[in-house]
Amino acid sequence: MGILNAVNLSKHYGKGDNLVRALDGVNLDVADGEFIAIVGTSGSGKSTLLHLLGGLDRATAGEVWIGGQNIFAMKDEALTVFRRRNIGFIFQNYNLVPILNVYENIVLPVELDGGEIDRAFVEHVISVLGLTAKIHSLPGQLSGGQQQRVAIARALVSKPAIVLADEPTGNLDSITSQEVIGLLKVTSRQFQQTILMITHNEEIAQLADRTIRIEDGKILTGGGGPL
Ligand SMILES: Nc1ncnc2c1ncn2[C@@H]1O[C@H](COP(=O)(O)OP(=O)(O)OP(=O)(O)O)[C@@H](O)[C@H]1O
Ligand SMILES: [Mg+2]
Repeated sequence: MGILNAVNLSKHYGKGDNLVRALDGVNLDVADGEFIAIVGTSGSGKSTLLHLLGGLDRATAGEVWIGGQNIFAMKDEALTVFRRRNIGFIFQNYNLVPILNVYENIVLPVELDGGEIDRAFVEHVISVLGLTAKIHSLPGQLSGGQQQRVAIARALVSKPAIVLADEPTGNLDSITSQEVIGLLKVTSRQFQQTILMITHNEEIAQLADRTIRIEDGKILTGGGGPL
């Protein structure tokens, strides 16, 4: 069993004629330290899968196991703490706190958890992401790509075991995208992190250890265990 497992995972919305099988019986076994790209057309179920794997949403059926723990067996509060300690999320819509500056946004999850901030590492991440000059700016004063980079930094500084990223380079130019993926790969090796990343970019998918292709809520290729 890997660090992350999905067993017959399904998420349905609506009923009767309006039933949408956003996710339909997905099985997945992710090895510790694997870097996985998730690809598929719009509406195929990629974000739904990522949300369930990270325990942001509860499944209609099936299980998610992380580090040997059945996350849907946890109560909401326990799951929230578990998520904060083990998973870094990078969303399509950055979810930055508008009244906090860049630095404060980046260290917020660590502070919420009462954890120690590794300043040298935080500064390294900020520098690689090209945000050093912006640490005192508010999110509203940043471009979309800059906000995205803040969200990436925030997901990395707590050194989570698992990073779940929904198109983390969607708003970045190709050079910055390559750099960000490079950073993800380096930190994942350094901190033995497992990364699952949704992307529409085939070049970026090529950099992953494995690509999972989703269509109509089902895994077409790349499912099951590591190759
Ligand atoms: N809250 C919801 N209520 C009803 N249907 C939903 C809900 N969330 C998602 N869906 C449906 O589930 C399906 C999968 O959506 P999902 O967001 O996972 O797609 P996606 O692969 O991430 O697409 P994109 O590439 O456009 O982000 C879609 O048909 C979508 O309309
Ligand atoms: Mg999506």
